[in-house]
Amino acid sequence: MEEKLIEVASAWEKAERALVFTGAGMSAESGVPTFRGAGGLWKRFDVEKAAYLKSFLDDPGPFWEMARELLLKKEVQPNEGHFALSRLEKGGYLQGIITQNIDGLHQKAGNRTVYELHGSLDKLDCLNCKKEYTWGQVAADVQKGEVKCKCGSRKVKPRIVFFGESLPGRVLEEASELAGKCDFLVVVGSSLEVYPAASIPQTAWQRGAKMVLINSEKTQLDGLFKWVFREAAGEVLPGLEEKILGGDQK
Ligand code: APR
Ligand code: ZN
Repeated sequence: MEEKLIEVASAWEKAERALVFTGAGMSAESGVPTFRGAGGLWKRFDVEKAAYLKSFLDDPGPFWEMARELLLKKEVQPNEGHFALSRLEKGGYLQGIITQNIDGLHQKAGNRTVYELHGSLDKLDCLNCKKEYTWGQVAADVQKGEVKCKCGSRKVKPRIVFFGESLPGRVLEEASELAGKCDFLVVVGSSLEVYPAASIPQTAWQRGAKMVLINSEKTQLDGLFKWVFREAAGEVLPGLEEKILGGDQK
């Protein structure tokens, strides 16, 4: 791995417009379960019932059961991989992060330019009376598995993208535009199976960006990547950061 770290770090240092694209594997070492691959949520919950807008509108129960597992086992914190990306952004080596994750951990680690393709859990709306809630206001209810608005409605929906729902247009547009102009893209912790999110790395590849994949398991798009790391994100990213910023600090 050492050899590859040196090669990738030196290519990253030379990049003018580097981007990072992340998925659930980025937060795995923070204790947030992934969806697919070993131990993935979709092996334990019925994705049709827990993550489709239509099902949520019929019965929000299965979504909250899964959400409790996803984020509320404990207050999740950024891991070393998140902090490495935050220091790389501060050091001027990262234009931004395009993430599929809804856990807000990139922002918590200090990254300022984060495109959340699938939204985030921090705000919710009652679909009946439009009352807004923050995650903190509903966290206790989520623990109980039943989130109810003051108006009595159970349809308190987080501002995340369910299957069958379109992505926030502007975010996808801006992220795709950035991907079309980047010269270096690092994909971290994604099975690259969900579209349109997975079209972002393809856009960067078509534009001729140098591509790096940090993912424990094979993906359908492995062929797009010049370098592939199977080691954990929380190990590889600090390794790269140390070679890039460590050099600066000498
Ligand atoms: N380091 C690197 N890779 C890891 C790690 C780790 N510590 N842990 C897991 N992985 C890899 C897994 O091998 C898997 O290929 O991360 C990948 C996570 O893939 P998914 O669980 O499919 O997550 P993601 O690609 O983000 O899913 C996309 O699907 O269900 C929807 O909306 C949900 O945003 C999500 C979308
Ligand atoms: Zn209401």
